[in-house]
Amino acid sequence: MSSAQRPAFGVYVHWPFCLSKCPYCDFNSHVRHAAVDEDRFARAFAREIETTAARAPGREVTSIFLGGGTPSLMRPETVGAVLDAIGKHWSVAPGIEVTLEANPTSVEATRFAGYRAAGVNRVSLGVQALNDASLKELGRLHSAREALDAVAIARKSFERYSFDLIYARPEQTPAMWADELALAIKEAAEHLSLYQLTIEEDTPFFGLHAAGKLRTPDEAAARVLYDVTQEVCARHGLPAYEISNHARKGAECRHNLVYWRGEEYAGIGPGAHGRLDIDDRRHALATEKRPEAWLMRVEANGHGVVTDDVLNREERADEFLLMGLRLTEGIDPRRYAALSGRTLDERRIAVLREEGAITVDANGRLRVTQAGFPVLDAVVADLAA
Ligand SMILES: C[S@@+](CC[C@H](N)C(=O)[O-])C[C@H]1O[C@@H](n2cnc3c(N)ncnc32)[C@H](O)[C@@H]1O
Ligand code: SF4
Repeated sequence: MSSAQRPAFGVYVHWPFCLSKCPYCDFNSHVRHAAVDEDRFARAFAREIETTAARAPGREVTSIFLGGGTPSLMRPETVGAVLDAIGKHWSVAPGIEVTLEANPTSVEATRFAGYRAAGVNRVSLGVQALNDASLKELGRLHSAREALDAVAIARKSFERYSFDLIYARPEQTPAMWADELALAIKEAAEHLSLYQLTIEEDTPFFGLHAAGKLRTPDEAAARVLYDVTQEVCARHGLPAYEISNHARKGAECRHNLVYWRGEEYAGIGPGAHGRLDIDDRRHALATEKRPEAWLMRVEANGHGVVTDDVLNREERADEFLLMGLRLTEGIDPRRYAALSGRTLDERRIAVLREEGAITVDANGRLRVTQAGFPVLDAVVADLAA
């Protein structure tokens, strides 16, 4: 089988610690004042990789993503141990993409050469904003200068890099965002992730927002910022390939494509999710979220899995729709029909086309339009009903 035909298989590894908790973030990330026992975590990662590979043997890994939390707090040796364990229990595809998520502080950038030597070939930097007032408001520990310096070090250290920005921040105007974006594109080269600020429950921002102390752009203003994002990025050769991700052609994050195309991936570490096909059935797996409880489970049982659900046809097809329609390449409705055992409703498709929310091309591929993306959830709900 040529590499183009081989199925993709991703491995996600979660590092659950951060130096401080950002007030907008609801990811599984924890602050520890005592030193984290990295050797113990490295052993537990290796053990969980071994157990997962025994359940899903024979795969060829096409991408690895070390996410968090803040994986750039890991020692390069810990990263190396994780990558070695993956290579020991699965085979590794030629040209594998290995991404590490990094916070752009100067301390973390000093480890980039070590990560490169360990086998990382792509970094994704959490820049978030390119001005100091916004960074302060977002509770970040780095300045804009430090972030740009980290980007420059990433450029020298890795074949590929990307960075994240958050927009629709308090008081952000379309003109300010267009300028910031133009600077980001100049620095980014091939890939940018641009997330609209979401006010998540159980975060400090949620309380501030509810109390009227944090004013974010309303729906109409956020829509204008979204349109500016699409327009500026497309004009500079970084069109969206997913609702929040922009890349030059061929520079898409292959690991994230695994999720959105409904392919298989293993989830390793505290609170990691996986999708594995075992005995021809799709399993949705999740591990224990609390780091120390995860460690104890792995040490006792060889894995930290606390959820292992077999998806029925309907659930699998709905997930395919939900993930696939985030991509500008869209979905093949025949695959939906093969998964669910029913075809999408032609009348609903016709109405959504008339409203300009979707298009259907000559090969029958269904895509959400730029006008449809801001109301993606409603489009998916309508099609899946
Ligand atoms: C899992 S975080 C980890 C990245 C890394 N720890 C950092 O903060 O630089 C991945 C990205 O999600 C985005 N993000 C997190 N919370 C968000 C929120 N409430 N709204 C929008 N984007 C968010 C940020 O851009 C962040 O870089
Ligand atoms: S945004 Fe990143 S650094 Fe901040 S708490 Fe979340 S995972 Fe940690």
